[in-house]
Amino acid sequence: MSTRSPISPRLLSRGVSIRDGRAFIHRIAVAELAEEFGTPLFVYDAEHIRAEVTAAVQATEWQVAYASKAFLCRELARMMDSLGVHMDVASGGELHVALSAGFDPARIVFHGNNKSEAEIEYGVAAGVGLFVIDSLAEIARLERAAKAAGRRQPVLVRVTPGVEAHTHEYIMTGQEDSKFGFSVTSGAAEEALRAVRSSSWLDFQGIHAHIGSQIFLLDSYAKEVDALAVLVQEHSPRILNLGGGLGVAYVAGEENPGFDAWATQLFAALERNGIDREVRVMVEPGRSLVAQSAMTVYRVGTIKRLEGLRTYVSVDGGMSDNPRPVLYGSGYEAFMPEAADAERDQIATVVGKHCESGDVLIRDAWLPSSLAEGDLLATPVTGAYGYSMASNYNRVPRPPVVFVDREGARLAVRGESFEDMVRLDL
Ligand SMILES: Cc1ncc(COP(=O)(O)O)c(C=O)c1O
Repeated sequence: MSTRSPISPRLLSRGVSIRDGRAFIHRIAVAELAEEFGTPLFVYDAEHIRAEVTAAVQATEWQVAYASKAFLCRELARMMDSLGVHMDVASGGELHVALSAGFDPARIVFHGNNKSEAEIEYGVAAGVGLFVIDSLAEIARLERAAKAAGRRQPVLVRVTPGVEAHTHEYIMTGQEDSKFGFSVTSGAAEEALRAVRSSSWLDFQGIHAHIGSQIFLLDSYAKEVDALAVLVQEHSPRILNLGGGLGVAYVAGEENPGFDAWATQLFAALERNGIDREVRVMVEPGRSLVAQSAMTVYRVGTIKRLEGLRTYVSVDGGMSDNPRPVLYGSGYEAFMPEAADAERDQIATVVGKHCESGDVLIRDAWLPSSLAEGDLLATPVTGAYGYSMASNYNRVPRPPVVFVDREGARLAVRGESFEDMVRLDL
């Protein structure tokens, strides 16, 4: 039987080290964290996030707006605020978390294809820096709210550039057939831009586009810029927001394209299209800033060996803390934090504890054959769209989130209790 070497350090955050087979994060054993905070547990490497944000800002020299849908809690919002970046929110709830953490509203970019009147009023009253207009109906809604507040609201207009990024269909957003934005080729974008520019209550600041998520082929971004060039020439935006979507490696064999290559591709396309240096370029990465900063630590429960078929390794979480495998068929790897240098010499299916056969975290995972009930098992690269997409399916409480850096470990989000499962019930 073939084996898979131990987990690659490239899938782990910068602060993780392996000593005598044990995984440490900033000198704290992952097993100790599991002991103190329980499992499942999201362990975030705070320094990794700071380093990624700094790298993104340095590579692009543009304004970076962190796409908070990837992961948001107050601790993270405070960190992003202190790093001086902007923040993309896509609902009143995300806006509330950011504001309640003291995030500067002037650096908030408010997205959404169906913002409610209440969300719009909340954002306007809070002094949100930029609203991203997604429909003609929203122009009217936002005008009403701005008028009532007695101030012009700065806005971007979201357009769909007609670029089909090579990624999962559910996370492709730049194509013509999309619920987001105004199509460039149909003329809808032109119409919306005219309407916004002639509005007395909307202050036209620029154009926004986002072509999708988990993008590895960077020439998609060049195509995006090419498609936007005409609008930029015609409407002279002050800001050109090119969205996020930069891909991240989740399993061996995948490579992070990285911020430098992304920026190089975008710089070249902007230059080729003669896009004025006066335009302030903004990018909106989410996943690439936080995905590799975290791992989820589970405890192994039942192990079922079905002779000639498959071995099922059940963990104490599942699709409620990581719905990505179920939603997108996303791949992950796993390793034992207490035997992180062990050869992974058996193939098994890592499943959760939910009442769904589809509750699979990793279909064919390479795992050490020593893995036994009671051991810890960690899945790296769970920092984006894991906790933020978590649910209480089967009334399973959501796990705690812990932030670790050189100062130590601190609880950022407490884990839910059974009592929390009836908190909203009347
Ligand atoms: C408008 C917008 N901006 C930014 C992002 C962030 O994408 P990613 O996390 O892939 O960088 C998304 C994600 O879907 C988005 O919809």
